[in-house]
Amino acid sequence: MTQLTSSGAADTEIAHVNVQNGRAFSLNAFGMNYAFHVDANGELVHDHFGTPAEVQPTEVGPEHISGWATRLTDEKRELPDVGRGDFRLPAIHIRTGAGHTVTEFKYTGYEVVRGKPELEGLPATFGGERDVASVIITLEDEESGLVATLRYSVFPAHNAVTRSYTITNKGGQDVEIKRAASFTLNLDAGEWDMVYLTGDWAREANQVRRRVETGTQGFHSLCGYSSHFFNPFVALVSSDTTETSGPAYGLSFVYSGSFAVEVEKFVSDRVRANIGLHPLHLDWKLAPGESFTAPESVAVFSNHGLGGMSRSFHRLYRDHLSRSEWTYRPRPVLLNSWEGMYFDFDAEKLYTKAKDCADIGIKLYVMDDGWFGVKHPRTGDHAGLGDWVPNPDRFPNGLDDLVSRATSLSVHGSDQNLKFGIWVEPEMVNPQSELYEAHPDWVLHAGRHKRTEQRNQLVLDLSRRDVQDYLIDAIGSVLASANISFVKWDNNRAMHELPSPSTAHAYMLGLYRVVDSLTRRFPHILWDGCASGGGRFDPGLLHYWPQSWTSDNTDGLDRLHIQFGTSLVYPPSSMGAHVSAVPNHQVQRVTPLEFRAHVAMMGGSFGFELDLQALDDGERARVRDIIALSEKVSPYVLGGDLYRLAAPESNYPAALFMMPGGGRGVLLAFCMQARIHRYAPPLFFAGLDRMAAYEIDCKTYTGTDLMHSGLKLHWDARDYQSKVLFVKRLPYDN
Ligand code: DGJ
Repeated sequence: MTQLTSSGAADTEIAHVNVQNGRAFSLNAFGMNYAFHVDANGELVHDHFGTPAEVQPTEVGPEHISGWATRLTDEKRELPDVGRGDFRLPAIHIRTGAGHTVTEFKYTGYEVVRGKPELEGLPATFGGERDVASVIITLEDEESGLVATLRYSVFPAHNAVTRSYTITNKGGQDVEIKRAASFTLNLDAGEWDMVYLTGDWAREANQVRRRVETGTQGFHSLCGYSSHFFNPFVALVSSDTTETSGPAYGLSFVYSGSFAVEVEKFVSDRVRANIGLHPLHLDWKLAPGESFTAPESVAVFSNHGLGGMSRSFHRLYRDHLSRSEWTYRPRPVLLNSWEGMYFDFDAEKLYTKAKDCADIGIKLYVMDDGWFGVKHPRTGDHAGLGDWVPNPDRFPNGLDDLVSRATSLSVHGSDQNLKFGIWVEPEMVNPQSELYEAHPDWVLHAGRHKRTEQRNQLVLDLSRRDVQDYLIDAIGSVLASANISFVKWDNNRAMHELPSPSTAHAYMLGLYRVVDSLTRRFPHILWDGCASGGGRFDPGLLHYWPQSWTSDNTDGLDRLHIQFGTSLVYPPSSMGAHVSAVPNHQVQRVTPLEFRAHVAMMGGSFGFELDLQALDDGERARVRDIIALSEKVSPYVLGGDLYRLAAPESNYPAALFMMPGGGRGVLLAFCMQARIHRYAPPLFFAGLDRMAAYEIDCKTYTGTDLMHSGLKLHWDARDYQSKVLFVKRLPYDN
């Protein structure tokens, strides 16, 4: 519960929020503060974001003795709008009832709240009164009657500030919101780099680092979804910031649809970065009395480089974004049927495979694509999507019969029975389906333009209430029909033809309604996101689902890049990672079983994606050892702090997971390619107590040794080697 503690033009102080004269605000975390004030014209002006500092509001910019720039162009505006002499890219752009797009939002008041108000209908961070404090600022544009309510919250333990806002039309005429970026980061003049994640299907989360130059640079998704191409995240770092030191600002957008990131270094050298909804997928009409909410964005500051920034995101997202009961719970080691069988299965074949799983010690069997469709059976990717009824040829006795038999199998080496999981792709429909035959108007389409198919499928229009209700009902019925413990929710194409630009956002609101309803109805299910791999790995869906499939590329070597990249923002606990067969189905590479497994163990949801019957007896025994080791490593990955000690680009990547308190940890270290007659560089640890002694692989080291002299690992003259070493802090002598 949130609690209103103060309002008005007075000094107010609650834990972590300080207000002076009702006009200067500071949100205070343990390692940073975020400060802004109201200037003489009623504008909200940014003062500071960084290492805690008492900042005197400054209103005077460089003197403009001549030229076109104005004070407003230079000002560090919290909610920059259009017109009135600000020539940088704005956060908001609204066409008012008068027909123009000039607005002047002036401060009218504030409220201070312990805790954090909920964001209705949208995913957001959350927390109790001890975790988070908020200040709500109200601004008004007198001419149009538009009111902006800005919600700022600070999570002191995570050095994070969040912001979302609502625009309410209190005027008498319709307005159109054309642009509504959620967060505006203001940086002083300096040498800044931007870091972000880019990729494609099967090569997600490649890090790009580039200099912020004068002008505008950015990236976006116009796919309707967050996409493989770019992730809704950007870091702004000083040009000398490293993995372990220097200032790093991370902006992460809590949303799963189209988005835009714009970083503008103006001619004055000041930098403004906007992150939020994509303006080409907006144009939202607001009738008198209606409101529009810009989704939440999270801003994190660390003075300990990109590593510090990532750890803040990881802890914040585990503790205050993921609402699943599974966030910290050990995830059952699973086997997913996809790469082992693709579409070629029926109930008996599935049962045989489920028995194999139970015999070898796998705890969860996941049946992937291909189980549904009556008139149009899903025996390939050409038909069936939309018809969420088991295929009677494949399941003559129904789905429940198979699930009951599979979940009666006891798992080798444990006191549990096998669990059963299922794949769905609810947002999609094949034209060859009973659903499309009955409701051709339910798919996204624009007039008489061709409905472009991708993977033989079309996208359902989830902005429609009837479509949402159909999905809640259809998927809910499947989940209620059998003992299902796990759902993989896939989504395998982007949006093409939209009936209107704002349908994209209305779709997302509809999707969140569907997902919210199903996850509330089935809270014990382990929900797993997927979009052709990591095409929707974003904080929006991680609010509802604790994990997501990181990539369809299951090659150990490529996965090192993908998983290290993904960890820039997302907690390792949220990554699904599987051991697949060799030659690898995506890149044909052959790597050792243990190498593939050790890479996959760095994901919170560890499993296999291969045909167990293709393994020989020796390999089966090794799989048992791998399962046992993965269960030992899992708590560290789920709840530990990640230190990326060396990146994949070094050839010797290494990740250290240290449990809270620093007493125990696990190191996963890799040699990607053999380097004959050369030494590997020492592995410099981080996050240890200098004065403490640590035991690794039966040897004792001091924290100082490990952090400053480094661990010298021995690697043979072979490609694809890996080591898993547990780290234990020894008790002090006295
Ligand atoms: C794409 C997913 O990423 C795969 O893992 C698999 O589930 C296929 N879809 C099934 O069609």
